[in-house]
Amino acid sequence: MRETLLVTGGTGTVGEPLVRALSAGDASVRIATRSPDNPRETFGDGQEYVEFDLDRPETWGETLAGVDRLFLLYPPGTGVGEVTEFADAADRVGVEHVAFLSILGAEKLPVLPHRRIETHLARTNMSYTLLRASWFTQNLSEVHRAEIVERDELFFPAGDGVLSFTDARDVAAVAATVLTESGHENRAYDLTGPAALDFHEVAAVFSDVLDRPIKYADPSRLTFARQMYRRGFSPGFVAFMVAEYSVVRLGRSGRTTDDVETLLGRPPRTVREFVADYADEFRA
Ligand SMILES: NC(=O)c1ccc[n+]([C@@H]2O[C@H](COP(=O)([O-])OP(=O)(O)OC[C@H]3O[C@@H](n4cnc5c(N)ncnc54)[C@H](OP(=O)(O)O)[C@@H]3O)[C@@H](O)[C@H]2O)c1
Repeated sequence: MRETLLVTGGTGTVGEPLVRALSAGDASVRIATRSPDNPRETFGDGQEYVEFDLDRPETWGETLAGVDRLFLLYPPGTGVGEVTEFADAADRVGVEHVAFLSILGAEKLPVLPHRRIETHLARTNMSYTLLRASWFTQNLSEVHRAEIVERDELFFPAGDGVLSFTDARDVAAVAATVLTESGHENRAYDLTGPAALDFHEVAAVFSDVLDRPIKYADPSRLTFARQMYRRGFSPGFVAFMVAEYSVVRLGRSGRTTDDVETLLGRPPRTVREFVADYADEFRA
C-alpha cells in the first residue's frame, strides 16, 4: 500500500519545494493548510489537501487519518504547546516518523521553542529526524527584498559578521530524503550552505549577478528596528531579527557542515546560485 506523507507548512518556504519533491515519488502526499484553495492553485490536483490549523484541534483528526510519516514545523506566531500536542495526537494515531524543521544550534538553547519541541518529540513513540537549518538564503527575497529592490541595499545590522546561508530548497531536498528513505531515524542534521559569507561579500555577489551596484548598509540596531517596524513586521519579529543579527555581528553564525552534501550527494547551493535563480524578484 502507498504510504501517506503529511506536510505541514506546505505553503511555506521549505514546504513548497518539499511538496514538489515528494510529489515526484511514490507516496501519497497530503498538504495540511489553513486555506486548502491556495496550495491547490499552486500544486494542482495530484495531491490531497486538508484544512489544518494548529490552533483548532478539531481539524487534527482528518489531517492525521492514515498518515505514516510527517513533516512538522513550528509556524511563526503559534505556541510550542500547540505543536507538541499535535505531535502527541500524531503519535496516538500511529504516525511512525516525524521530520522536524529546527534551527542550527538548537541543542545548545534549552529555552528555544524549537529545542523544546525537539525534546518533546524524542519522548514520543515516533522515530524522528531533526533538521537544524541555518539562516535561509530565501530571507533575502522574502523579508529583506524591499530594500534591495527599492534602494539597492542589503539592510542588516550585522557588521562584518558572517552567516552560513542555507538555501531552503536544499533543506526541502533533505526533508524529502529523510521522509522517503530509511536510516535517518533518531538523528539530527545540521544544514548549512557551503560557505560563510559576510554581507559585504553578499552585496558583491548581488552587484555582479544583477549587474547593478548593491551596497551593504549596516545600520544601527535602532535604525534597523524602526525601519522594519515601519514596514509592518510585528514587534516580536523585529526583536527576534535584531537579536539574530547581533549574534551574526559577534561572529557566531558562520559554522558550515557537510551534512547537506552527505545527504544529497551534491554540494549545497551557493548564494550566487540563489541570486541568479531569483534574479527577477530583485528587479524593480
Ligand atoms: N527563515 C529562516 O532563516 C529559518 C532558518 C531555520 C529554521 N527556520 C524555521 O522554519 C520554520 C518556518 O518554516 P518556513 O519558513 O518554511 O515557513 P513559512 O514560509 O514561514 O510559512 C509558514 C507556514 O506555516 C503554516 N502555518 C502558519 N500558521 C499555522 C497554523 N496556525 N496552523 C497550521 N499551519 C500554520 C503556513 O501554512 P498556511 O498559511 O497554508 O496555513 C505556512 O505554510 C520556523 O519554525 C522557523 O523558525 C527558519
